Amino acid sequence: MSEPQQKLIHTFSALADIGQEVAHKYNFHEMIRTSFHLLLGSLAIMRGGIARYSRLGNELNFLAVRGLGDDFPVSTSIDPADELEFLSAGMSPIELSQAKMLIFFQQYQPIVEKKGIELIIPMIVHDELVGLVMLGEKASGEPFNSADRAIVQAMARHIGVGIYQRNLMMELERKAEQNRRMYEEMRLTYADTVKSFAAAIDYKDKYTEGHSVRVGKYSELIARQLDWSDERIEGVAVAGYLHDVGKLTVERNIINSPQRIDAKESAELNKHPAVGYEILLPIHHPYTDVPLAAKYHHERLDGRGYPDGLSDNEIPYIAKIVALADSFDAMTTNRPYKARRPANEVVEDLQRNSGKQFAPELVTALCEGMLSELEGTSKDRSFRKLLGREYMEASEMVPMLKDILNGINATGPLTLIASH
Ligand SMILES: [Fe+2]
Ligand SMILES: [Fe+2]
Repeated sequence: MSEPQQKLIHTFSALADIGQEVAHKYNFHEMIRTSFHLLLGSLAIMRGGIARYSRLGNELNFLAVRGLGDDFPVSTSIDPADELEFLSAGMSPIELSQAKMLIFFQQYQPIVEKKGIELIIPMIVHDELVGLVMLGEKASGEPFNSADRAIVQAMARHIGVGIYQRNLMMELERKAEQNRRMYEEMRLTYADTVKSFAAAIDYKDKYTEGHSVRVGKYSELIARQLDWSDERIEGVAVAGYLHDVGKLTVERNIINSPQRIDAKESAELNKHPAVGYEILLPIHHPYTDVPLAAKYHHERLDGRGYPDGLSDNEIPYIAKIVALADSFDAMTTNRPYKARRPANEVVEDLQRNSGKQFAPELVTALCEGMLSELEGTSKDRSFRKLLGREYMEASEMVPMLKDILNGINATGPLTLIASH
């Protein structure tokens, strides 16, 4: 095989190696270093450098250098006029003598000349300058011939594509991060809006101050016990916060009546789930089922609830959670015509109505949540904060909760009993 043929084969294999390196995106800097050394090796070039160009700030940062010494600048800047010059030159290698007119080289001439740089190859991909390759003389001392230049150009193009891909990837990552932040901001805005809405609902009802906010929190605590994803838990909390939104259209004197309301007033009040559904339906919620939770939070598993008298498996699950949170708050807070019930009674009520009014597994979740706080297995203090420490720490609570949890588990699904 003749020498030029051998050289050609050698060059092709170096080019193939660079192609493989460029396709391997995991370690960008390693890829650049290896590719650059392949380039130097293929023509036995003693020294040189490869730099990445960033239009932002017109910065030129060297990613790999060989034989240029410690005093070679790692980072420089290119004048925008130089950038245009490079772009118009295309990817053809520029002799140092030609490059001397560039502002960059006027600035760095002494050092570039001292280091024996002979060729500069702008890396241009899709009409964009992505970097520069600078090459010193060949080990043989021969000048670069046209074949050498073609080889250098082809290799530099490969490396340029690698840099371009990396730039694209970083831009994508930056955009994705930007989107993530925007989404997070929107999510927080939505959550704040929901909470202020809940406060507005509660403001109308002076006897049950903070009810919607607490139902939101209890719903969240129950869902948390079910090991749901954060997103689903948030959805359940939102449903809790907004469950009584329909009350905004009920007359204030009915809501705030100091005694039990009559049948007509009761019928008026009982419209609030359906009204709430109508209010929430047109809103594009990030979570599904929020309107359904408002509509069905007064349904019961045994079908004796309202507005539609749905039974167990007809009731949307989210509504079951909110219904339990709603009743739990009603029992544990003072009402105008009914004082707050002692904790043990509330727990008994949950047990008695498990499978009739409430989904048993949700009663379990609620009881487990309280028990884990009381026993200190959870660092959360939410139940204590919502119910008050004294109320929560009533002496018989722990054994009662344990009893309930055993009872519910031992008797199996109480829904079955309720349906007979
Ligand atoms: Fe309600
Ligand atoms: Fe409610």
